[in-house]
Parts: sequence; C-alpha cells; structure tokens
Amino acid sequence: MKAIRSHTRGGPEMLVYEDGPEPRIAAGEALVRVHAAAITPTELTWNSTWTDSNGKDRRPIVPSFEVSGTVERVGAGVTDMKRGAPVYGLLNFWRDGAAAELVAARAADLAPKPRSLDQVHAAAVPLSGLTAWQALFDHAGVAAGDRVLIHGAAGGVGTFAVQFAHARGAHVIGTASKRNVAFLKELGADEVVDYSSARFEDRIRGVDAVIDTVGGDTLDRSWGVLRPGGVLVTIAGDAPETIAAKYGVRGVSMLVQPNKAQLVEIAGLIDAGRVRPVVDAVFPLPQAREAFERGLLGHTRGKLVLQVVPPSDAGGRSS
Ligand SMILES: NC(=O)c1ccc[n+]([C@@H]2O[C@H](COP(=O)([O-])OP(=O)(O)OC[C@H]3O[C@@H](n4cnc5c(N)ncnc54)[C@H](OP(=O)(O)O)[C@@H]3O)[C@@H](O)[C@H]2O)c1
Repeated sequence: MKAIRSHTRGGPEMLVYEDGPEPRIAAGEALVRVHAAAITPTELTWNSTWTDSNGKDRRPIVPSFEVSGTVERVGAGVTDMKRGAPVYGLLNFWRDGAAAELVAARAADLAPKPRSLDQVHAAAVPLSGLTAWQALFDHAGVAAGDRVLIHGAAGGVGTFAVQFAHARGAHVIGTASKRNVAFLKELGADEVVDYSSARFEDRIRGVDAVIDTVGGDTLDRSWGVLRPGGVLVTIAGDAPETIAAKYGVRGVSMLVQPNKAQLVEIAGLIDAGRVRPVVDAVFPLPQAREAFERGLLGHTRGKLVLQVVPPSDAGGRSS
C-alpha cells in the first residue's frame, strides 16, 4: 500500500511517500481503508511516534493519529462492524498511523462517522475533539455558567473547546491573534483577547477554568487569572502541584485517550448543527510533508487534513 513513512527520526523533511506493508490486524481490531487523516503538527516530536509502548524503536513509522474511512476487514471477536461501514476515530499513539491507504485500529476505539460530514471534515474531529472534550468536561468539570479561558482558541483543539464550552452554556473567553477575533466570536466565544496587543492577565480575572493549548509563558502566566478553587488544564506543558497549591487552585496536565462513547456524543452535536470541525487546508497524501511544515508555523486555523481517497464520497458537507 502507499503510505507516508519516516525511516529517520526528525521533522517533516524526513517524510517520504512510498510503498509499505499492509498492516496486520489482531483479534478485536479492524482494518480501516483510510479516506482522510488529520495531523497534529507537533506529533513528529512525540516519543510515541517513534517507539512502541515499551520504548522499542519501530521505524519506519507512519504518522497521523486520526482517521476517517471505511471498515475493510475485522479481526476475531469484532461483531458490531461490517465491511464498508463509515467510521472515524483516534488511533493508538504507539502504533503506525493513518497517513496511508490502510490502518489497523482497535475496533472499540472507532465510532460511526458523523453523517453530516464528508470524510475530510470527519478526519479533523477525533484527536482535537476528544482532547477538547476531555479537558473541559473530564478534567475541568466545566458546567453551564462557568467562565472558561481557552488559550490557542483558533487552533485544532481550541476551535472545538470554544464550541463545546459554548454549547454547554459556559461563558467563553479565547486568546488568539487579531485575524481570528471575529472568527472566534462567530464560533461562540463571548470575549477574545488578541495576544499580540494585550496581556490576557491584564484583562481577565477570576475564571473558573483555563484550558491551555499553548504552553510555555502563556501557561506560566495563567495561574493568577483563576478564582480560588479554579482549575487549569494544560495539554502543552506541566502543571506542578506546588504551583497550583501556591495559587489555591487545581492543575492538570493531560494526555487525550481514545473514547468511542465521547466520539458518538460529539458526532451527535455535529449532526445537530451545534458544532463544526474547522479545516484550514487539505493536502493530497503525497504532500504530507507540506502539511506538517505549514502546521509547524503555528498559525493553523482549525486542522490540516491529508486526503487519501479523492472525494467521490459526496455524502456530506465539503466546505
Ligand atoms: N496532551 C494532549 O492530549 C494533546 C492533544 C492534542 C494536542 N496537544 C498539543 O497541544 C498543542 C496544541 O495543539 P493544536 O493541534 O491545537 O495546535 P495548532 O492547531 O497547531 O495551534 C495553532 C493555533 O495556536 C494559536 N496560537 C499560537 N500562539 C498563540 C498564543 N501565544 N496565544 C494564543 N494562541 C496562540 C494560533 O492562533 P493565531 O494564528 O491567532 O496566532 C493557531 O490558531 C500542541 O503542542 C499539541 O502537541 C496535546
């Protein structure tokens, strides 16, 4: 099968489009014919991209951990999936990914693709959507009426976090550059701080939760904007207990987990027209390197998606 692979640990410059072996599936798994796969620009820096869960080198590797496609074949014990069924899901970080014609996945991690989306838009959901969902609801416990500050609101995770928090009835404050202010208000943000012209900590005080997707200095400056007893969830750094205690708040550093039930719930919100994936650009699979290079510039609006099968599947929105 055709795949994007890397034989050498490094950045996008190491990615090559070539033939690779078809993945094998074990009991409880499904082989998925990939129609589209989305990327997280930083994924080539993650250890899990290069090793198995025991730390053993597994090069050559295939990147991209989120997929939309159709079931090609199932392994022993999988009874709830038929060949041809449209599915989407977050893949295991320590195995080959979806930048290929076929990928193996745990059947339990795959959910029915949202009916209203085409394959490209469906591929943009699983990793960022689940990360935003778990940060907001599993870790921060955001509820209606809460004030939530979302850093990196225009990015892959941020665009979902803004929409989920808004749909839950929270008051949403986002940080982004000027060009994204109107866009984020249209997505459901009540307030947007343009980080290039103001320091958010000079404008915002007493929030119930901070969802940080930026890390670094942005994370460090966020503790003081929480109300006592508030919670900071970061997906892009550490949240040391000593610092959280100093501010009288809770800090969580999280790693997203596959979750079929949550993907079903997210698909429901999408099909009800309450949430939409934002796709910044689509690249044919052989051009994956360009997708990563563009993503690493750090100003993607929503997601970058690799298209593996041309859009003959016209079963949904394509804008
Ligand atoms: N722990 C986990 O489970 C997990 C899961 C997913 C992702 N991640 C990590 O989370 C991070 C974000 O991922 P992503 O896919 O959402 O990233 P992304 O889509 O590449 O983020 C790009 C966005 O960041 C915004 N941005 C850049 N600098 C900013 C700043 N100083 N303040 C506010 N916004 C800023 C940009 O907005 P402007 O263009 O307006 O500047 C752009 O929209 C990455 O480091 C990724 O590795 C972790």
